[in-house]
Amino acid sequence: MEQYIIKGGKPLVGEVTISGYKNAALGIIAASIMTDETVKIENVPNISDINILLQVIEQIGAKVERVNKNTIKINGSKINSHTVDMDYVRKLRGSYYLVGALLGKCRRANVALPGGCNIGSRPIDQHIKGFEALGAYVKIERGLICAQSERLQGAHIYFDCTSVGATINTMLAASMADGLTILENAAKEPHVVDVANFLNSMGANIKGAGTDVIRIKGVSKLHGSEYSIIPDQIEAGTFMFAAAATKGDILVKNVIPKHLEAFTAKLIEIGAQIEEYDDAVRVRAFGRLGNTHVKTLVYPGFLTDMQPQMTTLLAVSSGTSIVTENIFENRFKYVDELCRMGAKIKVESNTAIIEGVEKLTGAVVSAPDLRGGVALVMAGLMADGFTIVENVEYIERGYENFESKMQKLGALMIKVDSDDIKAIKKFKLKVG
Ligand code: EPZ
Repeated sequence: MEQYIIKGGKPLVGEVTISGYKNAALGIIAASIMTDETVKIENVPNISDINILLQVIEQIGAKVERVNKNTIKINGSKINSHTVDMDYVRKLRGSYYLVGALLGKCRRANVALPGGCNIGSRPIDQHIKGFEALGAYVKIERGLICAQSERLQGAHIYFDCTSVGATINTMLAASMADGLTILENAAKEPHVVDVANFLNSMGANIKGAGTDVIRIKGVSKLHGSEYSIIPDQIEAGTFMFAAAATKGDILVKNVIPKHLEAFTAKLIEIGAQIEEYDDAVRVRAFGRLGNTHVKTLVYPGFLTDMQPQMTTLLAVSSGTSIVTENIFENRFKYVDELCRMGAKIKVESNTAIIEGVEKLTGAVVSAPDLRGGVALVMAGLMADGFTIVENVEYIERGYENFESKMQKLGALMIKVDSDDIKAIKKFKLKVG
């Protein structure tokens, strides 16, 4: 099993370039099979979630050509199956976008129920509500979402809760339905807008993405397109917080500052220094940061995907802080691991009460999920001594070239096999 070994205490200094947004790329790759023409997508993050989805669409007949490590060409004209039930589909959440895409393209889809980080029950009732409102017959059987419809008819859909996945999935199917679909209480995240912009570049007619009302006029055909995916706001936020956590100085490049406003505001509130440029932000921190209260909300609020990084930063801030998780019901699993490093955090229901300590100390910890894992790496980077983070495959699902980007910023960390005692000893001798 692979693990990171980290020697903490060294400020991260330098520049890092942010990759394309994982959660936009998943929806865009699913959308790309809805046309029989070729699409070319740039700034695709080269991470396991994306590579698994590319494998899946190849399995059902799509042609996938990797132009370079971050550019792919996809042609869905030879898709010969609407059943997606390979075992590895269950590893990621984004596979469920193939339901909306295949429903739109061929009016049928049998897709394995999604996996993804275990941070709550993660139901798909709103996805099903959207498909059924468009006239599809949907049932769950044999672990598959089975959906079919003679014809998809535009509808006025009011989501019971704001769901990124349900908004994108329903938008995919509605883009090739007959007539007008209106989505109310739609998610406003930047990646929802990115998927809508991609569909429009293929000839779809979608207006209002980024607001809570999206209007979609269905079209009978989508055409090829060339598109570049927006930068990953969560990867950007993670490196911003790592700079603050290690009292470093990082220029985070290839970002859209508007997408980072909630993170920037909190960092300034607790005493970090931010300089904003057109497509970059510089984050510096000196001395101990202050405390604050954070509630995770849908965009443009403070995003749940940055909650573990925020809690970790506040673990060594002065005073008592409170972080309330309003999106997922089980997203504090990493806190037990932080407490093994000396953090003083009490979780009551969906709230973490954080009593800031002077320092964390290195320990062996296990990543429970993608963002909890990256928060534990952050903790290791600022702790005294050595930290081992296990289950690094979670982290590599969502962060491209993670350890090399960290090493280029001066992080003393390597990835080793847990039984490679020689490599572990060599690293410890080297960094002292
Ligand atoms: C997407 O998950 C992201 N994943 C998550 O990122 C992100 O945390 C989440 O959106 C919120 O921003 C991908 O895009 C692949 P939701 P998704 O539907 O679509 C409830 C990461 O770390 N809900 O917006 O599954 C649900 O239980 C991952 O990159 C229903 O009740 O999130 C949750 O409480 C983790 N019924 C809330 O809505 C539904 O049908 C938000 O879920 C759908 C959702």
